[in-house]
Amino acid sequence: MEKRILITGGAGFIGSHVVRRFVKSYPGYKIVNLDKLTYAGNLLNLVDIEDEPNYEFVKGDIVDAGFIADLFSVYQFDAVIHLAAESHVDRSIANPMEFVMTNVIGTVNLLNAAKEYWKGDYDKKRFYHVSTDEVYGALGETGMFTEATSYDPHSPYSASKASSDHFVRAYHDTYGLDVVISNCSNNYGSHHFPEKLIPLAINNIKNNKAVPVYGKGENVRDWLWVEDHARAIDVIFHQAKTGETYNIGGHNEWKNIDLIKLLCKIMDQKLGREAGASEQLITYVTDRAGHDLRYAIDSSKLQHNLGWVPGLQFEEGLAKTVDWYLENEQWLNDVTSSNYQSYYETQYAER
Ligand SMILES: NC(=O)c1ccc[n+]([C@@H]2O[C@H](COP(=O)([O-])OP(=O)(O)OC[C@H]3O[C@@H](n4cnc5c(N)ncnc54)[C@H](O)[C@@H]3O)[C@@H](O)[C@H]2O)c1
Repeated sequence: MEKRILITGGAGFIGSHVVRRFVKSYPGYKIVNLDKLTYAGNLLNLVDIEDEPNYEFVKGDIVDAGFIADLFSVYQFDAVIHLAAESHVDRSIANPMEFVMTNVIGTVNLLNAAKEYWKGDYDKKRFYHVSTDEVYGALGETGMFTEATSYDPHSPYSASKASSDHFVRAYHDTYGLDVVISNCSNNYGSHHFPEKLIPLAINNIKNNKAVPVYGKGENVRDWLWVEDHARAIDVIFHQAKTGETYNIGGHNEWKNIDLIKLLCKIMDQKLGREAGASEQLITYVTDRAGHDLRYAIDSSKLQHNLGWVPGLQFEEGLAKTVDWYLENEQWLNDVTSSNYQSYYETQYAER
């Protein structure tokens, strides 16, 4: 094997796309997917590649330092691509400590293992931390986040991600570990857990249920096709200089309410409903505490330095996303009924 890569959180939404891309594109790499399989981890996301010879799944918790140390010792990793995290802002407001444990302590455990096991070889190893644009806080009507924007997180989720970013940089500055960080805007696409805005709205529209929209739906997000994110991670992992940070975004800003209305329009067409029918389902609910008004990412550094550009237009990507959810009813049923949580026991118990 040319490289043994640990990908954490590979059973989640973005992680599964990253795992699939690396397993398929690099047969010479051994990809070890470490995931705790929380409610957000779903091995059904990876059934198409689970038998590939260069892929292995390991169930485990990054908060368990002893387990992480053993894993490094057994597999002798050359690199880590770290995505495992608690990722839902609403859950972080309800239970911040879980976010501190996984996002901060878990990241530091991985850094400590890398520091220990890669000693003397730091120039041949790489620690890639996948982070979010939410660390930069909120924008007003204008402006964009660049890599030089100061951190100003507002939610327990973004505070925990900001903290983990700082630790990753500190291990570069203090110990000389080869690290790279990317901060990405909101992702959308297939295999997204239906507690997040787009899959939740698709599922509710499909089932003629109310589609909740926070406040007046004025919050603006910059949406990126998840496979474009996975491709950016591939490019940055292979080409970025040590210690670099890259912003990743789609130059694709949408007010939540406009996005939901577009989704309703697409769903009306796909489901053969009368124009305007699905919009009737929109229901305004009390705004989220500390809800950031606007995020927008300036990804020109990534575009100029490494030649990455977003591949898919939003309307096309959204239509593809809707098609995927409508064609994969079983996946959606398994997720909403929690059936996916028994897949690990039935599939992996005898391995
Ligand atoms: N979703 C987005 O729009 C977005 C945007 C930018 C950055 N990110 C970042 O990308 C990463 C992945 O996000 P996502 O949306 O795929 O999240 P997700 O919630 O879908 O997946 C997270 C995965 O991590 C696993 N996990 C959680 N705690 C763990 C632990 N203690 N040990 C091992 N595994 C654990 C879960 O089981 C799950 O499979 C996160 O770090 C997130 O901060 C997400």
